[in-house]
Amino acid sequence: MNRNNTLSLSVMSGKGGVGKTNIILNLGYALNRERMKVMLMDCDLGLANLDVLLGISPERNLHDLLRSDVDTEDVLVCIEEGFDMLPATSGIPELVEMDEDLQDILFRKLINLAGEYDYLMLDLGAGISNTVLSFATLPQLRIVVVTPEPTSLTDSYAMIKVLATQRGIKDFLVIVNQATSPAEAAQTFERLDAACRNFLNIELRNLGFIHQDRTLVEAVRRQTPLLKFAPNSPAAKDISAMARKIMRYREDNRERILGRPILKDFPSL
Ligand SMILES: Nc1ncnc2c1ncn2[C@@H]1O[C@H](COP(=O)(O)OP(=O)(O)O)[C@@H](O)[C@H]1O
Ligand SMILES: [Mg+2]
Repeated sequence: MNRNNTLSLSVMSGKGGVGKTNIILNLGYALNRERMKVMLMDCDLGLANLDVLLGISPERNLHDLLRSDVDTEDVLVCIEEGFDMLPATSGIPELVEMDEDLQDILFRKLINLAGEYDYLMLDLGAGISNTVLSFATLPQLRIVVVTPEPTSLTDSYAMIKVLATQRGIKDFLVIVNQATSPAEAAQTFERLDAACRNFLNIELRNLGFIHQDRTLVEAVRRQTPLLKFAPNSPAAKDISAMARKIMRYREDNRERILGRPILKDFPSL
């Protein structure tokens, strides 16, 4: 296990339905095409749906990991070679309600395998429940997905504020999704960034934007990742470019980011 080679990140948003799950799935796909080894983890314990986007029904899920006879390998689903997914299921008991022994079991099983991947990517539920905040705190990086809708902006700001004030987190990457033009995307980022600078003294990092694209809606209907369904669609091209940006970011910040543990210890949540 090489602890220093795995980049862990979570994709999150204040508001639901902004595109987190589609983004993480397709980013994972794009990174895998660049020969990266990727593990996606569905951490949306309320409305797990990575499996739905892939059109699969996994036999086991995150919850089964709590059993002593089940290992992470038994739960992982292979999407493509070097691209695996750890499914959740709707209605798993809230993580923070588990006692420390259970959290510890889950953590140790995950961490054993996480080091074998280049990227460990956590798909979070929306909102600011304690479970969401805990999962947001675990990885090395956090990506906030925001759309140009005013409600998405205010909810993203609220989420960043809670993570900054209650958990001391100050570094956030931002993806603007469902933008109709580069200008609209830039304005959306600037609004969120200005609020965070003025009221929280936090500077956000812009990872770029994804066009609003009906092809993505069609890919969801067909339960096929957009990058597989229509690799030349505008949104697919945006996501591919973003994956390359994340790879550069990882290389440029190798010392700073990869020096941190892949996941913080669950018991200290
Ligand atoms: N770039 C986009 N263009 C068009 N529609 C999008 C785009 N991103 C997301 N959507 C729509 O939003 C829906 C919700 O996306 P999803 O990834 O499930 O969001 P979340 O995980 O944030 O709840 C998709 O099914 C799709 O209809
Ligand atoms: Mg989702």
